Amino acid sequence: MSTAAEPGRTWPLVGRAAELDDLDDLLSTAADGVGMTVLLEGEAGVGKTSLVDALRGSARLLDVELLTARASELRNWPFALLSDALLVRSGRAGRGPVEAELTDLLDAIYADPVRSVARHDRAAELFAALLRRHGDSRPWALVLEDVHEADAPSLEVLLQLAHEGAVPRALVVLTMRPVPYRPELAAAVAAWTRAGARYLELRPLNARATVELAENLVGSPVGPSLRGTLATTGGNPRLVADVVRTARAAGALVVTDGVLDSTGVAWLTPLDEVVRRRIEYLGPEVLALLGQASVLGTSFVIADLASLVGDPVGDCWRTLRHGLAAGVVRARGDRLVFGHDLVRGALYNGLEPDQRRALHARAAWALRQAGAPPQIVTAHLERAR
Ligand SMILES: Nc1ncnc2c1ncn2[C@@H]1O[C@H](COP(=O)(O)OP(=O)(O)OP(=O)(O)O)[C@@H](O)[C@H]1O
Ligand SMILES: [Mg+2]
Repeated sequence: MSTAAEPGRTWPLVGRAAELDDLDDLLSTAADGVGMTVLLEGEAGVGKTSLVDALRGSARLLDVELLTARASELRNWPFALLSDALLVRSGRAGRGPVEAELTDLLDAIYADPVRSVARHDRAAELFAALLRRHGDSRPWALVLEDVHEADAPSLEVLLQLAHEGAVPRALVVLTMRPVPYRPELAAAVAAWTRAGARYLELRPLNARATVELAENLVGSPVGPSLRGTLATTGGNPRLVADVVRTARAAGALVVTDGVLDSTGVAWLTPLDEVVRRRIEYLGPEVLALLGQASVLGTSFVIADLASLVGDPVGDCWRTLRHGLAAGVVRARGDRLVFGHDLVRGALYNGLEPDQRRALHARAAWALRQAGAPPQIVTAHLERAR
């Protein structure tokens, strides 16, 4: 999911004053010459990029050099992330001997990846040295975005660096989604945690900030019908922007007495499609199980889902863990609750009608077995027709 060019960005950020203050404080600490590392984690679209983008202004004011790079699974060749951060911008002319040697080494590695083990080790060593020494002349900040998609050699360098403590005179911010889980990322995160890195979990916006964001996007107060749909976004800013953009594109927004509201339901079908595309990254297995769970409602007991799909609870749990880590579902005791009802609805509406009816029939059976009240069982049976 690309973020930098996303339309719909409002400025200043909504509902992030505390997080911005935190990052600004850490940047000031780095400007005073103290190294700090921050692990910024949050679900897709919650605003990680927006938050670190906001560091630019503070860095300029504090005269701290800010280097950024974003990992991407489409650019996962060795050291792609670190070379984007440390080499690409310097250009051939502005390169010191270490950068020049690294550039030549990388060219050789890319030309002949198989016979490059020694070059590989040397490149890792040089990247670590560059990171360690970059702040010799002045403090700096390094933002490495989406490290959950980072190439393994870059993660290995970050892991090794963590064993030495914070990068000297630098604020290092690593942003990541909680999924997909990758052992090499988990190892780097654990090492940074042991090295005293700050963990900052970026949570969804609260209800007030959600409406404020929508009002900023449309430029006027929003009415009850649109607020109703906004309430299903679970405070995810990307979903809020999706709601507004889709309603607008479908011509479903009307202004009455200065209040803008949505009208009709036709625009909800394209909205479902947009939302389903947003969660494609979870992969077919997780999406299929969540789709089946959507039949049980906004919240469901895992054992009921297991009998619905006919799999052992342990298997369901292993698959659902990815949905949990992604924030699509949240744990409440032995229940799971969809984090964004908009997502649950999109999954439910995406089921084939025959499949949906069959699932309701099985849900009626599973819930009756589990002792659910007759009216709940009947409601499922009605939808099974
Ligand atoms: N606090 C906020 N106020 C206003 N707009 C926001 C806020 N947070 C995020 N947005 C908007 O929501 C969208 C998604 O935000 P962003 O790209 O920062 O999320 P992300 O966490 O980096 O997502 P990803 O995991 O895909 O990288 C963007 O359009 C962004 O401008
Ligand atoms: Mg991002």
